[in-house]
Amino acid sequence: MIPAETLNTGQKMPVLGLGTWLLSGQKCTQAVSQALELGYTHIDTAQAYGNHREIACALENADRKKIFITSKIWMTDFKADVVGPACNQILKDLGTDYLDLLLMHWPNKKVPMHKTLGAMNELAKQGKTRAAGVSNFTIAHLREALDSKAAKISVNQVEFHPLLYQRELLEFCKGKGISVTAYCPLGRQGDLRHRTINAIAEKNERTAAQVCLRWLVQKGLVVIPKASSEPHLKENMQIFDWELSEEDIEAIDSINRNKRVCNPPFAEFNRGSE
Ligand SMILES: NC(=O)c1ccc[n+]([C@@H]2O[C@H](COP(=O)([O-])OP(=O)(O)OC[C@H]3O[C@@H](n4cnc5c(N)ncnc54)[C@H](OP(=O)(O)O)[C@@H]3O)[C@@H](O)[C@H]2O)c1
Repeated sequence: MIPAETLNTGQKMPVLGLGTWLLSGQKCTQAVSQALELGYTHIDTAQAYGNHREIACALENADRKKIFITSKIWMTDFKADVVGPACNQILKDLGTDYLDLLLMHWPNKKVPMHKTLGAMNELAKQGKTRAAGVSNFTIAHLREALDSKAAKISVNQVEFHPLLYQRELLEFCKGKGISVTAYCPLGRQGDLRHRTINAIAEKNERTAAQVCLRWLVQKGLVVIPKASSEPHLKENMQIFDWELSEEDIEAIDSINRNKRVCNPPFAEFNRGSE
């Protein structure tokens, strides 16, 4: 059984989800089906991943109420009158009548944030989404979002892994009752090669991936590693029956290099001042 994080809406969000970026076609349906069979109950997707229909195929035989689905609206659909139709399309493609969580995928300076959040709040009122959130938001973005009071922000999904330990952002979110989801929790495999991670893995008789995920979970984050093979899917689930010691946690805390592996060209422009 995967433990859950309680969101500020009262909803339970499983602390391990399946990331689906780059999963497409038959491979996507297969990986999501396999994950559900193994006991995953949380799927992370986005309009931009182009895989909603493939995920819908995998969800056909699942009990919808037991699955937590997150999707994200792309930056070009942030205008107030576009958010609703974009969400309707997501629901149609996923074959569901609600999302557990809908996120703004990236900040976009070109559209006033409160307009997008206001439209997302309407979707929550209509029951099309259970919670609203953001992704790739800095503290400055979050302050603007919170000050606007346009919607309750339940989650901020950001890149977070041992080589990108965003301590200040995490503390800010926790202080505001915003849950944090770590994307690229393995640093797209980059962190798995780090000497400290491997030494701790060996000492605990675990793998480097499990050490990264366990460090994040012990810090109170939700993790969404992408995995496309059964061994990886299984390995990433085996992080709940053991713990890293305080000493191990401190050793991992010290390897931060502020190393982003997801840094598309538009990110810097929209990130603004931290
Ligand atoms: N909000 C955003 O802007 C944003 C941006 C990026 C990502 N995301 C979300 O976060 C998810 C995760 O990020 P990501 O996919 O970029 O990176 P990631 O999860 O850090 O790394 C995925 C890579 O790690 C491999 N892997 C998985 N489990 C492993 C294990 N136990 N041992 C060794 N390798 C393992 C996968 O290989 P196999 O496929 O071969 O299993 C894949 O190559 C995405 O899929 C997406 O849902 C969100």
